[in-house]
Amino acid sequence: MNATIAVLPGDGIGPEVTAEATRALRAVADRWDHRFELREAPLGGCAIDAAGTPLPESTLELCRAADAVLLGAVGGPRWDDPAARVRPEQGLLGLRKALGLYANLRPVRVHPALRAASPLRPERLEGVDLLVVRELTGGIYFGDKRRERLPDGGERATDVCAYETAEIERVVRAAATLATGRRGRLTSVDKANVLETSRLWRAVTRRVIADEFPDITLEHVLVDACAMHLLRRPADFDVIVTENMFGDILTDEASMLAGSIGVLPSASLGDPVPGRDTRPGLYEPIHGSAPDLAGRGEANPLGAILSAAMLLRHSLGLVREAAAIEAAVAAVIEDGILTGDVAGAGAPVHRTEEVGAAVVGKLTAVKEAHV
Ligand code: IPM
Ligand code: MG
Repeated sequence: MNATIAVLPGDGIGPEVTAEATRALRAVADRWDHRFELREAPLGGCAIDAAGTPLPESTLELCRAADAVLLGAVGGPRWDDPAARVRPEQGLLGLRKALGLYANLRPVRVHPALRAASPLRPERLEGVDLLVVRELTGGIYFGDKRRERLPDGGERATDVCAYETAEIERVVRAAATLATGRRGRLTSVDKANVLETSRLWRAVTRRVIADEFPDITLEHVLVDACAMHLLRRPADFDVIVTENMFGDILTDEASMLAGSIGVLPSASLGDPVPGRDTRPGLYEPIHGSAPDLAGRGEANPLGAILSAAMLLRHSLGLVREAAAIEAAVAAVIEDGILTGDVAGAGAPVHRTEEVGAAVVGKLTAVKEAHV
């Protein structure tokens, strides 16, 4: 197939890991005779430096026109001044919102060879295969924000958290549909004992599942308890659906099950566009820009490479190609070609591009075996 992919390397380790993900995409194109046009654009801190804004209009136009977007990471200490008018993260949030990408899929699987890299005891990790669906364009991230001076000389800061029925319905439908293709269990996470938005969330979720997904087993778990159960009984979870900020926090926690935040991919999806046979989506590793690692060639590229696999599956419908990347990554992990975050004590540590090259090697080896 022919596809245009917008590539936004961003800041910190973003460019290094994105380079390995695009190598994997080129290897896939070569092996299956696809034509992927990869077009780069700035987002985040590098865009602030180049254009004065974290989301230049030209970047947004490219992303709107593309079949899918591959992103590295945004942010870093250079742009962290709390008094700054523009921040790199505004670019990422603005892009998610502008593209209508309300469902953020963050799968967590534990490769047996990485169990030792997790701070959890290996027996707890047996059978862990969960998917967090995080609501991505609403809640406290996007509500009104303000700061005001108080007569006593102090200040008041406010962040509004708001959700509407329709916003909850669509993300719950997306999560339940995914659960239907898995083990049929959905955990909705909220703080309904305290927050009004959570009480609406729970009521809407209960209704959508009862009316539209009779085969799904639904449980409601409070977010604080969920944080505990993710460590106590992680294998019990199938699909977790939750609001924006809870999902942000719980997925960093859940990444520790997989050994390192560096191996986790994500897909952010909107509704299919009528008349288009590809589905808009933004694909990024969940690890962030890791400024202390930037430029050293030590970052783990597997989260970015697995994000490229999700791009092939969800936006381009190339299921076989996505599975080939995932199998290549698993084989590289089994071979112990790993960066320092997951290599065991005393095991050799490989550089970012060695890991990327090993994945491409596996993809190409399979090609040669098939010729
Ligand atoms: C993530 C990140 C972002 C978020 C930041 C960089 C704005 O932490 O994708 O999880 O909070 O959504
Ligand atoms: Mg986060």
